[in-house]
Amino acid sequence: KLSSVVVGLGSYLPKRIVSNADLEKVLETSDEWIVQRTGIRQRHIASEDEPTSKLGVNAATAALNDAGLTEADIDLIIVATSTPDFTFPSVATQVQAALGMTHGAAFDLQAVCSGFVFAVATADKFLRSGSHKRALVIGAETFSRLLDWTDRTTCVLFGDGAGALILEAQPDSAAMGRGVLTSHLRSDGRHREALYVNGGPSSTKTTGVLRMAGREVFRHAVGMVSDVVTEAFAATGTTAADLDWFVPHQANRRIIDASAEKLKIAPHKVVTTVDLHANTSAASIPLALCVARDDGRIKRGDLVMIEAMGGGFTWASALIRW
Ligand code: ACO
Repeated sequence: KLSSVVVGLGSYLPKRIVSNADLEKVLETSDEWIVQRTGIRQRHIASEDEPTSKLGVNAATAALNDAGLTEADIDLIIVATSTPDFTFPSVATQVQAALGMTHGAAFDLQAVCSGFVFAVATADKFLRSGSHKRALVIGAETFSRLLDWTDRTTCVLFGDGAGALILEAQPDSAAMGRGVLTSHLRSDGRHREALYVNGGPSSTKTTGVLRMAGREVFRHAVGMVSDVVTEAFAATGTTAADLDWFVPHQANRRIIDASAEKLKIAPHKVVTTVDLHANTSAASIPLALCVARDDGRIKRGDLVMIEAMGGGFTWASALIRW
């Protein structure tokens, strides 16, 4: 039997930081409103010459360096994104080309904010089947390109960035209990209107902009993420007390805190980066993992729960022995 073990992690944030005070100058909003309602203090915004693939390549390169591997060691690339450079080809094949890799397979996966957890689950199944050896799992987004910058109810919430995780198929005898222990994916397409982009190649032939009924999303979020996290605990015979780190999708401080409270996860185990990065959709979890690994919190052997909820609706969890 095989397990998908974490062997590398990296991330990339665009240089330009836009603070709430910067937004106050162009919108009828305030730092106080944004911080109180969301916990967000700033976001990174990609420059014109930084499409999603570029952010993804930078994160992938950081993860390869962290693992001490090269593109020759990777045979699967999955990029979770809702903001591809082009309708096609995929961001994943562009990352593949930029890394100088001509073997293996690369494809995008779209589950909006849940995309990274869906991608980890997908890679895990490929690796455990024995079909592939090492997967580069990337969450990369430029949501700034999809925003209506005159709509204060949405544009203050999002940012750009990318993170990448490398998973390696190892025999259980070598993995020694490490790896992706379980994953739980859900979706319910009836909620399209609550969070969507009002354009696309087959409807309006435009890119469109993000539209959201914030209250509606909030109303569903806590229950949905609690359900999938509870499923992950049940599937592995673990409880909140066993967790070392809870690394939720970073959409909103209030959703994160309410979810942790409902799941009885102690506040000191919750990794929160929404203040620094805002909501970077599929990139938020690997970005948060990177922050917590870099500051010494997440260490080899730790039990880490990742979870997300987003457009679709989609929602998902995965439990990883780091
Ligand atoms: N600055 C100042 N005032 C604002 C802003 C802003 N940026 N945005 C909205 N307001 C105003 C509204 O116009 C409204 O004014 P009114 O009462 O005069 O009409 C007032 O603030 C309250 O608006 P609500 O939308 O009711 O505010 P709410 O407390 O629900 O907070 C928020 C809005 C933060 C979007 C909240 O609903 C939320 O967090 N929802 C979850 C959505 C989310 O996080 N989505 C991310 C994508 S999905 C995901 O990743 C899970």
